[in-house]
Amino acid sequence: MSKKPVILGIESSCDETAVALIRENNDGEPEILSNIVSSQVDIHKEFGGVVPELAARAHIEKIDLIAKKAFDESGVNLNDVDAVAATAGPGLIVCLSVGLNFGKALAVSLNKPFIAVNHLEGHALSPKLNSKINYPYLLLLISGGHSQFLCVEGLGQYKRLGTTIDDAAGEAFDKTAKLLGIEFPGGPQIEILAKKGDPTKFDLPKPIINKGGCNLSFAGLKTAILRITKNIKTKQEKYDLAASFQKTMEEILYQKSKVAFKEFKNINGDKKKIFVVAGGVAANKKIRESLTKLCKEENFMASFPPINLCGDNAAMIALAGLEKFKQKQFDDLSFPAKPRWQLDKDAIFLKGSGLKY
Ligand SMILES: Nc1ncnc2c1ncn2[C@@H]1O[C@H](COP(=O)(O)OP(=O)(O)OP(=O)(O)O)[C@@H](O)[C@H]1O
Ligand SMILES: [Mg+2]
Repeated sequence: MSKKPVILGIESSCDETAVALIRENNDGEPEILSNIVSSQVDIHKEFGGVVPELAARAHIEKIDLIAKKAFDESGVNLNDVDAVAATAGPGLIVCLSVGLNFGKALAVSLNKPFIAVNHLEGHALSPKLNSKINYPYLLLLISGGHSQFLCVEGLGQYKRLGTTIDDAAGEAFDKTAKLLGIEFPGGPQIEILAKKGDPTKFDLPKPIINKGGCNLSFAGLKTAILRITKNIKTKQEKYDLAASFQKTMEEILYQKSKVAFKEFKNINGDKKKIFVVAGGVAANKKIRESLTKLCKEENFMASFPPINLCGDNAAMIALAGLEKFKQKQFDDLSFPAKPRWQLDKDAIFLKGSGLKY
């Protein structure tokens, strides 16, 4: 039997230093051999957000140790690696450069192909780490820096159907958390606090909910929360606001996904109806439940990555690397770090454009 490819994945686009090894199994499915993620939360907590210089320094200090751990846990050695895949963008350039250059150096020393991966493509493919999904599919990418509906037609083939015109969904969670006095990163904490609150207590706005197709907007929601927090006195009111915010996010994503379903069906017909939800916010159980319910109503197959692979990790980067490796899509060592790198290269930049509906 021919040797199955082993891919090393490296991720350092923001505040997670991550290295993973995956191998294709005999059924052609990816198998995670190791997946090490080192978070820098403790470093950035006191600043209330990611400080690029500190993040880059931490990546430099950690990356070789994390890589060694990934090899130790995987049971494979350096010479078993068939290609090295590293995130090249989008992200913080000083952070991207660390993983990208580490990956290039390893590829050169092993005399193996180098593959530059778009971090967002890693998120887009991440549900394939635990389930078989064929193209085309509709993707809702809800992460810390992006919120988009995309028609995924194949590897590297994306058509954007809608995007946020201001904040990303994860950003809305983090900013709301900050207004509620929750430590960075607050998104996951909102989910915990919301369990103790009444989601009907506050009536929050749902910007552009009945217009703008499946484009999204969350900035008005944040402004409303800022106004309410000024009058909040009790812990229970804080829990109620967390619950009301989460419920509103659920409803916005539910209704906008419904619009995106229609657009996806217009493009692909009524046969292949797969809805993939990925990115850090896809870890939110209430949002998962509500979008699963929508899929049942609309006869779409719902697919989410495992909770621990929703946030940044290198297994998804290795997976994108594996798909590119199988198509012999290798990159030159001159491939640059790209702070901005859209999945749909033809999509126009809407964020902050002052787009009005
Ligand atoms: N359980 C949760 N509920 C809501 N939001 C969450 C949850 N867990 C994580 N998040 C949010 O997900 C975001 C992090 O996701 P991710 O790591 O995919 O983003 P990123 O890598 O910073 O951005 P991008 O992928 O767009 O470059 C944060 O904004 C975080 O608050
Ligand atoms: Mg991410």
